[in-house]
Amino acid sequence: TEIDIAAEDLDLGGFPHYMAKEIQEQPESVERMIRGRLDDRFGVARLDGLNLTPRELRGFSRVKILGCGSAYYVGQIGATMIEELARIPADAEAASEFRYRNPIIEADTLYIAVSQSGETIDTAFAVEEIKRKGGRVVGLVNVVGSTIARACDGGVYLHAGPEIAVASTKALTNMAVGFALIALSLGRVRDLSNADGQRIIDAIRALPGQIKAVLDDEPAIAEHAKAAATAKSLFFIGRVRGFPVAREGAQKFKEISYRHAEAYQTSELKHGPLALIDDSLPTVAIVPADELADRNLAAMQQIRARGGAVLAVTHENVDFGELDVPRIVVPRTEPELDPILLTIPLQLLAYHAALTLGYDIDKPRNLAKSVTVE
Ligand code: G6P
Repeated sequence: TEIDIAAEDLDLGGFPHYMAKEIQEQPESVERMIRGRLDDRFGVARLDGLNLTPRELRGFSRVKILGCGSAYYVGQIGATMIEELARIPADAEAASEFRYRNPIIEADTLYIAVSQSGETIDTAFAVEEIKRKGGRVVGLVNVVGSTIARACDGGVYLHAGPEIAVASTKALTNMAVGFALIALSLGRVRDLSNADGQRIIDAIRALPGQIKAVLDDEPAIAEHAKAAATAKSLFFIGRVRGFPVAREGAQKFKEISYRHAEAYQTSELKHGPLALIDDSLPTVAIVPADELADRNLAAMQQIRARGGAVLAVTHENVDFGELDVPRIVVPRTEPELDPILLTIPLQLLAYHAALTLGYDIDKPRNLAKSVTVE
């Protein structure tokens, strides 16, 4: 299908690639995502488009998120946020698998379909399957009036504006912010206090400025990317909040720089993949300043001891002690929202690696922006 895009949206605005332009647009695009949606009085998000009453929101005992590719990985970020803020079991699954496995649809599960284009056939079929079995499904979609947006019972539009580059950036960031808003809504009809809601709202409001700070670090990230581009294969590792970030980072890297990039839970390294580590296999480690930082440091030490190079994506106050590895430092937000900011430098890492290698950044081989056929 052809997507309708106005001529002015095709203007590169002085950027060499749409991907570069879309990465830079993120501070404004997040502003649009949150405009009018934060309610300070009650520490909650205003998401009228969900078409769910507080009683209905309270009635869900589980959340299932469905999307494909990067949307699926952001779905995993969203599931973690929902579990942490609303304390209901939540998980994400590739819509492409879900639709083929005769899924069990439960009346007290809230299904969330995530899609930039709103036209991905696997996600659209998953939505139909849920509806056919009487489940309640809402959308987190960018393109207004798209197939998935229309099929859902309600939803939250991303307002990211047109995204042209195949590798999604600004739409993904808005999806992650959207999940924070949904998590707030689900949390505030349960045990999340007004004060905790307010803490998250304040943090959401600070995101555009913090994203800008990450983008200002582009020259240094570009240097790291040049080094990463020389490797044939890379690991991306993280745990809990950091694992979906690692998955999305690896996905971006392989999509546009055609390098083998594999994501692993840091905790699983010693259960197998550590055997592969040597000086030819560098690792990008996601190391937020959270309660798992020490364990992450220990894992990085094990990699270094086997001659593996490590690049850490981390926060200022993580104490690396003796461990001397290059770092990309991102600003801290509330821990539940860390994945949103940790993902941003990985976009730039993939972009600059592909630039160094001279590949077609906006239109990588074998990939379509939106897969609308079987
Ligand atoms: C394609 C693209 C991916 C994208 C996925 C989902 O496979 O290559 O980059 O993440 O579709 O697209 P959607 O429009 O549903 O978010």
